[in-house]
Amino acid sequence: MMRDKRIGVLMGGLSSERAVSLKSGAAVTAALNRLGYDTVAIDVDHEVATALRAQKVEVAFNALHGRFGEDGTIQGLLEIMHIPYTGSGVLASALGMNKAASRHVLMAAGLVMPSCRVICLDDEISISPRDLPVVVKPVAEGSSVGVSLVFKEDDFPKAVAEAFQFGQQILVEPYIRGMEVAVGVLNDRAIGAIEIRPKEPFYNYTAKYVPGMSEHVFPAPLPPSVYENLLNDGLSAHRALGCKGYSRSDFIVREGTHYLLEVNTLPGMTETSLLPEIARGVGIEFDEMVERILISV
Ligand SMILES: Nc1ncnc2c1ncn2[C@@H]1O[C@H](COP(=O)(O)OP(=O)(O)O)[C@@H](O)[C@H]1O
Ligand SMILES: [Mg+2]
Repeated sequence: MMRDKRIGVLMGGLSSERAVSLKSGAAVTAALNRLGYDTVAIDVDHEVATALRAQKVEVAFNALHGRFGEDGTIQGLLEIMHIPYTGSGVLASALGMNKAASRHVLMAAGLVMPSCRVICLDDEISISPRDLPVVVKPVAEGSSVGVSLVFKEDDFPKAVAEAFQFGQQILVEPYIRGMEVAVGVLNDRAIGAIEIRPKEPFYNYTAKYVPGMSEHVFPAPLPPSVYENLLNDGLSAHRALGCKGYSRSDFIVREGTHYLLEVNTLPGMTETSLLPEIARGVGIEFDEMVERILISV
């Protein structure tokens, strides 16, 4: 019985999304406490294995985001330690975190994604004005960290340099203007799609985390057939990567075509994050959502 187990909430961590994860972790910990679980918060660092043993953690609730948390590495450690954990396993996490690798799998499964150029550190870099505007992003980051929208040729080198701060490979995609929509999957079912209206040029870090800097509309105001197809795509993306339990996929919808941007295997878990908001929209309150994720390990 999960009720008798000691739950370790993994949070914080060593990625650029540490601050976000501390909030996700605090919200999850509060929910588990309200639900009456024996809960301990673990701020993940390089000594996490020692902390897990010292705290006698029997099940891990993963509230990490980004590197070392969402990329399969902590999942590998937990597998070796025989500690069951929430969310996706090693391979789906590693794939999901890498936008270049996941692309191949997602497109092979029939999902439509923006065309994209992968650039490595030593590659020649230039942009033709007819390709603008473009979005430049690191291959393996989250929370829009290192992502730039480029309208002018002159701004391209700075965007490239910014993205390379976060790894050896970057992506350059055509900017798709359209409705931004996130599809939530919970208990391996697509539960809903929410529209995001950022008050910034795109859904950047500020729009994501500064209160009032984006508006959310649930359910996304789309024709029923488009909405249905979008949910199907969200579930196809989840399945194509082999995700487990829950995920959130980001799309841009333009003229009825949905362009998948990425799959998040550990989406934000604060009470105002997108997946919790989608869940609430279909009648699943935050605490219930957290418990559903926990008991499906
Ligand atoms: N090709 C694109 N066209 C339009 N907007 C994009 C595109 N790629 C990214 N964006 C914008 O940048 C944001 C972050 O990009 P995303 O690929 O989801 O990376 P992250 O992992 O940082 O969330 C998106 O939510 C969207 O607002
Ligand atoms: Mg995203």
